[in-house]
Amino acid sequence: MISGEQQMEEQEIELSLRPETLNQYIGQNQVKNNLRIFIEAAKMREEPLDHALLYGPPGLGKTTLASIIANEMGVQFRTTSGPAIERAGDLAAILSSLEPGDVLFIDEIHRLPRSVEEVLYPAMEDFCLDIVVGTGPSARSVRLDLPPFTLVGATTRAGLLSAPLRDRFGVHSRLEYYDTKALCEIVKRTAEIFHVDIDGQAASEVARRSRGTPRIANRLFKRVRDIAQVKREDVISKETTQEALNMLQVDAEGLDFIDHKLLTGIMDGFRGGPVGLDTIAATIGEESQTIEDVYEPFLLQIGFIQRTPRGRVVTPKAYAHFNREVPHS
Ligand code: ADE
Repeated sequence: MISGEQQMEEQEIELSLRPETLNQYIGQNQVKNNLRIFIEAAKMREEPLDHALLYGPPGLGKTTLASIIANEMGVQFRTTSGPAIERAGDLAAILSSLEPGDVLFIDEIHRLPRSVEEVLYPAMEDFCLDIVVGTGPSARSVRLDLPPFTLVGATTRAGLLSAPLRDRFGVHSRLEYYDTKALCEIVKRTAEIFHVDIDGQAASEVARRSRGTPRIANRLFKRVRDIAQVKREDVISKETTQEALNMLQVDAEGLDFIDHKLLTGIMDGFRGGPVGLDTIAATIGEESQTIEDVYEPFLLQIGFIQRTPRGRVVTPKAYAHFNREVPHS
């Protein structure tokens, strides 16, 4: 049993894992350096920051970065998401409740309905809302002024954004997978916040096997910590870390059960491809969208699969990882 007090403490720790300033935020140096200048310039002009679009694979810290922008600008952080806004009126209600300078964060902005997007255009461009009042012949359009604000949009799929929406963001920042060194720092920082000691090699091991993704590094760290705790280890060792990661079915490259299913599915069922995304999704019982957004980007990045006009192909590098021979064509 976990006591209420302990549970509270865990929740507080979870929140404190989020860096609050650009200086606390590890990695993504180019994005950070650019933002630092844009934020400073906006503050000197006493204007809100230009609207910013953050894009890249899930778990790289888009929401965290958006909250840091609000914090650095010294304004409120308001958050919502594309699928949560169903009607134009929902967005109008949010926009009209903003205070001057606020950061409005819309996660998964590519999933905003088109009718809602259209409300966003004048709001982003001229800080106003065009509202239709009345119906039939007496209907007329009324323009409402909004306080100046900064829209920060996040998406895993910048390509799915309509061109008019994309073009209204003055800042475009693409988040990249983190290198092992940055992830190692993140793991050490997390350990410190949890008041746990971790050996440098153990932290590196978690970092190496986290697919370039802080969210995964923090999740794996917590499970490693569980095992070290049960073993009553004072300083988390590399051996315990390896044991924990093997238990979690995370391999040396950080690939998990679903990555394996995906790759071996293409190797076994389609002689390594090419095979269409929907076909492979149906074969292994995962959603095409999840494969495309979550699993594929990292496998492409490490060169385990390639996208060709005829579908996905598993590369010789992936065959080597599984100790398998590349089939003859
Ligand atoms: N926790 C998650 N992502 C982080 C980052 N980029 N820097 C510091 N701590 C983090």
